[in-house]
Amino acid sequence: MINKERAKEIIDRFREKKVLVIGDLILDRYLWGEVERISPEAPVPVVEVKKETVNPGGASNVAWNISALGASVYMAGVIGDDEAGKLLENLMEERNINPITVVDTDRLTTEKTRVIAVNQQLLRIDRESREKLSDYVSRVLIQKVNESLKDSDAVIVSDYGKGVINERIMEVLKKSGKPVFVDPKPSNFHLYRGVTTMTPNRKEAYECIKMERTAPVEDVGRRIMEKLGIDTLLITLGAEGMALFQGNNAPSRIPARARKVYDVTGAGDTVIAVLTLARISGATWEEAASLANYAAGYVVGEIGTATVEPDTLYKLISGEYM
Ligand SMILES: Nc1ncnc2c1ncn2[C@@H]1O[C@H](COP(=O)(O)OP(=O)(O)OP(=O)(O)O)[C@@H](O)[C@H]1O
Ligand SMILES: [Mg+2]
Repeated sequence: MINKERAKEIIDRFREKKVLVIGDLILDRYLWGEVERISPEAPVPVVEVKKETVNPGGASNVAWNISALGASVYMAGVIGDDEAGKLLENLMEERNINPITVVDTDRLTTEKTRVIAVNQQLLRIDRESREKLSDYVSRVLIQKVNESLKDSDAVIVSDYGKGVINERIMEVLKKSGKPVFVDPKPSNFHLYRGVTTMTPNRKEAYECIKMERTAPVEDVGRRIMEKLGIDTLLITLGAEGMALFQGNNAPSRIPARARKVYDVTGAGDTVIAVLTLARISGATWEEAASLANYAAGYVVGEIGTATVEPDTLYKLISGEYM
């Protein structure tokens, strides 16, 4: 799908690129602990916390992937006037992400806390607001986005359906003339007409057009492309890799590359980050999808790693990565 000379040429250009990511920011929090006893208060385990880790999640995980790949990145989104929001901004800055955030005093910063013990997730605690943005916040966000759009090579929409992505924002992005890559939320499907491409996973693809699970993925892809009026579509298929649709051709299937699988969360974020950077760096769609597939295969095999660096990506393709 891609040879190592082409891979090098493309990956070497990443550092000259600038990407604007827009979408729902999430603070990912992990509490790692041990269980020794059952609570005297209720029939539940008592977790003694040994370690706490925090990461930029949701759309900011896409931004983190872009910065790890050596490119510049703006992250546009909304946070609440709270500790989680401040922490998230700091985490982004530490990772060379330029946050373009609007503080909305009526919202909570979305925060997902996982409690992990005995090597498994025991509980997840979510705090979030999913209301539409107010007109005021939407306007301020658009103003900021317009400024950073000018010197961006592409836009990634990372829509987790928490309210940041709306019709007005999508209109601004589409009118900018920049390529727009979308990781979709099926309930917002109608907003994505005329974008450059979309990268739904299998479940999202079927939900976007409400087709039966028995329908072949080829038909699902076709319908999505017709409805959105787009020429290219990448459906990610988990352990089965990807299906790349281009024009009226039969989709090409790209087999998954993972050597081992530990943690599949965030693989979709890596896919859209690599696909976008590769395309604006001169890759064909086939080459870009292939690079994204190698990158995703790597991140699913690493514990606690959801990003890939340029050198690792190159070595995965040249076969030097052991
Ligand atoms: N079990 C697996 N084995 C091998 N590769 C995998 C596996 N799961 C995911 N991948 C790789 O990651 C890519 C994206 O995975 P998937 O289709 O699960 O996306 P997703 O559901 O959007 O992920 P996310 O958890 O980030 O939302 C796949 O196309 C494949 O390259
Ligand atoms: Mg996904």
